[in-house]
Amino acid sequence: MEQTQADFSPPRDAQEQAAVADIVAQAFAMSPADSLTLVQRVGAAGYRVLREDGRVASTLSYLRMGQWLGGRSVPIVGVGSVGVSPAHRGSGVATRMMQALLREVRAEGVPLSVLYPATQPLYRRVGYELAGSRFEVRVRAGELELGERSLSVRPVRPSDEAAITECYRRVAQHRQGWLDRGVNAWSRVRQPRGEVAYGYVVEGTSGVEGYVYLVRRAPPPPQLRQEIFLTDLVASTPAAARRLLRFLGDHRSLAHEVAWFGASNDPLLMLLREQAYQVKLHMHWMARLVDVRGAMEARGWPEEVSGALHLEVDDDLFPENQGRFVLEVSGGGARVRAGGDGRMRLHVRDLASLYTGFQSAEALRQVGLVQADDGSVRTASALFASVAPSLCDMF
Ligand SMILES: CC(C)(COP(=O)(O)OP(=O)(O)OC[C@H]1O[C@@H](n2cnc3c(N)ncnc32)[C@H](O)[C@@H]1OP(=O)(O)O)[C@@H](O)C(=O)NCCC(=O)NCCS
Repeated sequence: MEQTQADFSPPRDAQEQAAVADIVAQAFAMSPADSLTLVQRVGAAGYRVLREDGRVASTLSYLRMGQWLGGRSVPIVGVGSVGVSPAHRGSGVATRMMQALLREVRAEGVPLSVLYPATQPLYRRVGYELAGSRFEVRVRAGELELGERSLSVRPVRPSDEAAITECYRRVAQHRQGWLDRGVNAWSRVRQPRGEVAYGYVVEGTSGVEGYVYLVRRAPPPPQLRQEIFLTDLVASTPAAARRLLRFLGDHRSLAHEVAWFGASNDPLLMLLREQAYQVKLHMHWMARLVDVRGAMEARGWPEEVSGALHLEVDDDLFPENQGRFVLEVSGGGARVRAGGDGRMRLHVRDLASLYTGFQSAEALRQVGLVQADDGSVRTASALFASVAPSLCDMF
């Protein structure tokens, strides 16, 4: 079916919002009431629907935020809650909706889109590729009898919001891939669905140096020991890191494990005595370079590195991304100009894996996803070098 952008928009009225809630409830096994509450809380602007013959056939959530890459916040649209009504499945609706979404994202001037895939072929087909990870970290609470208590800890007050946001920002901007959070991401930290998160801040002489939001998950009877699940754990100073570990360890009499999401090499784990933790991949996330030039120019680059990379990019959805470009990096920034001799050839999908630092050019070449000469591979390795990109948030 030929689709126009007019068939794709935020839900127009209460009836369409109810259709969104029904699709979300059925796709993600939520109760109809919880789904409707969620859809109303996020609001119409946070969803898009695709209509077929005038009726809502599918939906997704549309989250404007940023992602820290190379120390700069790149504007992104995070996509979640992708769902097709059961009767419409299997006829290309999701593919058409993702294409319409990407056209809107590009028209809005946002260079990058990010999502967690429940299935990969759908998203690969429209240009997303694996670009980072989200790990679950589980530490035995008894192992957290360390750190120290020189800084004070107290419950979060409503007036702490700005200081907490700033504390998060100080840390997140140096963590490749972390979100520059919007309202939605913060509400998942502070008001996780169906659970209560208790917030505590760590204060030093200069104010909030760290904080944690924790959910106490009761064990199934007759067990006694709880799981402490952290919806956020941020330390912006070494003293705050030690204080937070001690604070969590002070729960050890009735807590069995402390768990959170983030990087597999979370620096807080460096402070533990033993590897008394488990790190498990939760999911890889995918990214789509909606605007190759815009994305390259928006992220940060290593200050001390300069070089020029000649790319030849294949993109079947956006002709603007197709063809030869020269990426010129110097002084922590980048410029992209059309032309050059295209010595590194790759699909826009695989450029996303390179862009975030998820894969090196050499690794992509080894599995046949990049064609390039040795010089270009070395240049790309120097320019895109980073620690493995991660995300703690889900959306
Ligand atoms: C997954 C889903 C969105 C696909 O919608 P759809 O309109 O049927 O998808 P399309 O017809 O555009 O199919 C595109 C590709 O997605 C994949 N796909 C489709 N349905 C799928 C399913 N149920 N499970 C796994 N992969 C699926 C296939 O690779 C398909 O390509 P192919 O038909 O060439 O093999 C839909 O089945 C759905 O809503 N499922 C429940 C919720 C969900 O899983 N959402 C994804 C969250 S990230």
